[in-house]
Amino acid sequence: MTTLSPSPSSATSTDPLQLIDVDHVRFYVGNAKQAAFFYASAFGFEVAQIADLTTGSRDRAMYLLTQGNIRIILESSLTKDGPAARESAQYGDGVKDLALTVFDAEKTWKQAVKNGGVSAYEPKTWSDATGSVTFAGIQTYGRAQHTFVSRTGAYALPALKNGGMFMPGFKKVEHFGLNDYNRKNPCGLKYVDHAVGNVEEGKMNYWVKWYEEVLGFAMFKHFDDKDIGTEYSALMSKVMASGNHLIKMPINEPAAGKKKSQIQEYLDWHDNTAGVQHLALRTDDELTSITELRRRGVDFLSIPDTYYESVWKRVNAMLTQHGHTIVKEDHARVKDLGILVDADDEGYLLQLFTKPLQDRPTLFFEIICRRGSQSFGKGNFKALFECLEMEQEHRGNL
Ligand code: FE2
Repeated sequence: MTTLSPSPSSATSTDPLQLIDVDHVRFYVGNAKQAAFFYASAFGFEVAQIADLTTGSRDRAMYLLTQGNIRIILESSLTKDGPAARESAQYGDGVKDLALTVFDAEKTWKQAVKNGGVSAYEPKTWSDATGSVTFAGIQTYGRAQHTFVSRTGAYALPALKNGGMFMPGFKKVEHFGLNDYNRKNPCGLKYVDHAVGNVEEGKMNYWVKWYEEVLGFAMFKHFDDKDIGTEYSALMSKVMASGNHLIKMPINEPAAGKKKSQIQEYLDWHDNTAGVQHLALRTDDELTSITELRRRGVDFLSIPDTYYESVWKRVNAMLTQHGHTIVKEDHARVKDLGILVDADDEGYLLQLFTKPLQDRPTLFFEIICRRGSQSFGKGNFKALFECLEMEQEHRGNL
């Protein structure tokens, strides 16, 4: 049997667990069939594969959505006691699992447990004549977990990226009209740039240490409430990155302010439990992606006109100071599309945040394009927080 797994040389020696990729992000939702329509219609995902009653899955329905190198599994329960049913009642729809592709899921899971991680579930392998998939899970903050995934044969990651099967038990979706439409009208989303967690007040450093010790991550950037705070609310944030910088996981905790922090608002509506706040999806062309997403009706945070009175001076001065060319995107179009811009010593980035993707003010997406900058839009935090607070006020949660 030909094994299509990437060769170990693609991982670095500074990445002890040898993480290969974000395998998939699993959402627990109340109704996967309808959620699949939402993410396909609003964000241009292909509804690629399915496992449900028609494939012999008696307890859960799962939809694999793909776009570029992004794979989302939408899972809902078919019984009242299923994990997705229980958790979607408790937390609303949201991210359960940020799954990471590794060379040997069982070995990685054992190492993570040895490093102090708590097992979410033991290794489990599904196989058929064409190959195998092994999952093993560890718990991270709050309701979230990381599944380590190793793949062989027809299920190996390169094959999956080329339209191969996700795992035994799934079948391809043959007739879904939006798939054809989305191929003709791409949104241009490429991969998961970072995944941000909100943890309880006072717990950020605990989870920073956890990512260092259990997953061998290192601190990437550091912000404190002086950077991010507004008059009313604040947060603290530290960015953890895997050794090869493949995956970046900023961790936020609420900081005291005059009014309620947006992190605290998330926790209040997430059963006082930590979880994933946003997934940042990378595009090579922010303007084209945002134009298409807006045309499809995606609800983004509205950025006040006053933001654009100072942004070009701030950003272009920073770029010039460090010998970079100024922002090449048409400045007027950036403003018309309500896109945020930030720069650091390495370059600039364009970013924009959606409103919550479900009724509770919990999970949202960020659409990000990097032009050299490897940071997270620190200069936008203040502007962004003021916008978020206006939204919070509309919801009566400030
Ligand atoms: Fe972000």
